[in-house]
Amino acid sequence: MRVKDKVAIVTGGAQGIGEGIAVRLAEEGAKVAIVDLQLELANEVVNGLRTSGIEAIALQADTSKKTEVGTAVDEVMSHFGRIDILVNNAGYHRMAKVTEIEEETWDRILDINLKGYFLMIQAVVPHMEKQNYGKILNIASIVAHGGIANQAHYNSSKGGIISLTRTLALELVPFKINVNAISPGTVETAGNKRFLDRYRELVEKQIPVGRLAQPRDIANAVLFLVSDEAEYITGQCLSVCGGLSIGMAPAV
Ligand SMILES: NC(=O)c1ccc[n+]([C@@H]2O[C@H](COP(=O)([O-])OP(=O)(O)OC[C@H]3O[C@@H](n4cnc5c(N)ncnc54)[C@H](O)[C@@H]3O)[C@@H](O)[C@H]2O)c1
Repeated sequence: MRVKDKVAIVTGGAQGIGEGIAVRLAEEGAKVAIVDLQLELANEVVNGLRTSGIEAIALQADTSKKTEVGTAVDEVMSHFGRIDILVNNAGYHRMAKVTEIEEETWDRILDINLKGYFLMIQAVVPHMEKQNYGKILNIASIVAHGGIANQAHYNSSKGGIISLTRTLALELVPFKINVNAISPGTVETAGNKRFLDRYRELVEKQIPVGRLAQPRDIANAVLFLVSDEAEYITGQCLSVCGGLSIGMAPAV
């Protein structure tokens, strides 16, 4: 058990990558709090965990809203009494040419994907500082390192996550809080369905390992980085992308 009895918050854990992370951490002994907009789906995940004897709770919150984040973190503290692991994963994706991005869409993406991560960290860090222990893992994307056209808002938010990770890793090192990021490649999730309906064949051909990622591929890397095995790793971003970040699969 690699995270036995650790208390983990996973944002956006009601489905997709976040659900995969919540389940994987729970399999390795963590107590899990899922914070998500979708309470019904989050409860389904939590009920599944509880039937396996795992302590888990679901909390409804919009991670881009400071008051909702504060209430959710208070609830985690009153239920579990500590917070060891924060996985910032809740995200929102849209595609549009730069000339067609609506201001509200730009704001919504930056609010959820970047400000939401900051708000969660700001609410959780005082508890981690008191414990002199904490693991923060931010889900970014390979588009933070090299762009895909027509999603300047999304890519900018993910680039910001890398800077946030590096800055906070330095700031929080005196409190034994590790801050790292993971950049997934293309993962098969409900949130990615529209993109995959259009580009699946093309994307699969480009990925060196020859397949899309599943949420568990990302969750396995998260598990390592939030475990004590990764104590000496901080401020880093690991691409979990089947090799896509270094190049494309050969054409023949
Ligand atoms: N799927 C991919 O290919 C891929 C690739 C790279 C990075 N990512 C990143 O991984 C993360 C998860 O992606 P996914 O594909 O599983 O997405 P998804 O859309 O399937 O799931 C996202 C979850 O986040 C929740 N959520 C969204 N906004 C929220 C908010 N404001 N407050 C609380 N909860 C909120 C949703 O309700 C949902 O349960 C995102 O940060 C995404 O940008 C995904």
